[in-house]
Amino acid sequence: MAKKILNVGMVGYGFMGRTHSNAFLQAPRYFDLPYQPVLKAICARSAERVKGFAENWGYQTIETDWRKLIERKDIDLIDIASPNNTHAEIAIAAAQAGKMVMCEKPLGRTAAEARTMVAAVESAGVPNMVWYNYRRVPAVTLIKKLLDEGRFGRIFHYRSKFLQDWTISSDLPQGGEALWRLDVDVAGSGVTGDLLAHNIDMAMWLNGPITEVVATTETFIKERKHNLTGKVEPVGIDDASIFICRFANGSLATFEATRYARGHKALFTLEVNGEHASAKWDLHDLHRLEFFDHRDESQLRGWKSIHITDSDHPYMKHWWVPGLQIGYEHTFVHQVADFVESLAAGKSCSPTFADGLATDCVTDAVLRSAKTRQWEKVLLG
Ligand SMILES: NC(=O)c1ccc[n+]([C@@H]2O[C@H](COP(=O)([O-])OP(=O)(O)OC[C@H]3O[C@@H](n4cnc5c(N)ncnc54)[C@H](O)[C@@H]3O)[C@@H](O)[C@H]2O)c1
Repeated sequence: MAKKILNVGMVGYGFMGRTHSNAFLQAPRYFDLPYQPVLKAICARSAERVKGFAENWGYQTIETDWRKLIERKDIDLIDIASPNNTHAEIAIAAAQAGKMVMCEKPLGRTAAEARTMVAAVESAGVPNMVWYNYRRVPAVTLIKKLLDEGRFGRIFHYRSKFLQDWTISSDLPQGGEALWRLDVDVAGSGVTGDLLAHNIDMAMWLNGPITEVVATTETFIKERKHNLTGKVEPVGIDDASIFICRFANGSLATFEATRYARGHKALFTLEVNGEHASAKWDLHDLHRLEFFDHRDESQLRGWKSIHITDSDHPYMKHWWVPGLQIGYEHTFVHQVADFVESLAAGKSCSPTFADGLATDCVTDAVLRSAKTRQWEKVLLG
């Protein structure tokens, strides 16, 4: 039977534009999908550069204004891979035009912004998803399965970090291409929304809702030249963010993110400690799961380092033979495959916009607590 066509219109041809384009191309090659994604149109502001991107990735057409992209009748799905300040406007317009919407994280720059996006997709009734791709690292997906099976027993602790070191130089400007993450108006926040959002999404997926937080943040470099104005301007983002929190299940957690941990490039880690078992994972060794089970025979009890490459590990039967590992880009491929399969089954694919909003509610509480220096409840709804 001929597959249904899913015409994709992508906004943004940067880092995420590449990972998403690759994912739409690869997903139907490795997964038996009911829909065939088609790279119909790519949109970004520079016509010359967008043309080059379209040629490289095989997009059929180009647009330089996302509004035009949304108006097109031949686009089924709008995929937003542009900076954070563009997410809400594009997603809401896309939903109102009846398009499916995929959006990069964080969903909104604030929970208030994210709420308007959730309202738009829900009132339009369009399928939607946020690209919290790390849920779909097979080792992380396996931790979720083990937790859901109850193998850990009661959960006591969760700890997670995301460490980088690329903004240490005070000569680094803020704003504009590649450096929009340092401009608070565009990014919304610093490492809290950019990095911790990933840790929080994963944590709540694995361990349930976070109810209250107490946080501290720091902006180590207070002024930087702004690329767009040419002037030295105050830096409005948080360079480092640390919080402790409580989950609804009674467990306690610590989270830390920074771009000032010299030597660390993208050290995303998690550890969960339960009554019977513990698990550890880190992005630099993403195909390994460290697992300890106290119920093992005492003489042989210890941490196992499991190479997550067997065909019965999540997603792995779609790839190579056991022992051969996969990497970062595959998490996006998995997300496209899951989205398309959910679409065919008439189900929503998590993380939905509502899940993205839940994460934004936690990052809001973190930033609020850093200001008030008090415990802050996570305000949902
Ligand atoms: N899921 C992840 O792991 C992950 C990783 C990196 C970035 N992100 C998110 O992806 C988004 C994009 O980040 P990036 O690293 O790809 O950024 P980038 O700077 O590499 O690319 C951004 C792209 O958006 C385009 N753009 C900017 N404004 C636009 C507009 N008004 N209309 C059309 N195009 C516009 C730029 O030309 C560029 O092509 C951000 O929201 C970011 O937080 C997610």
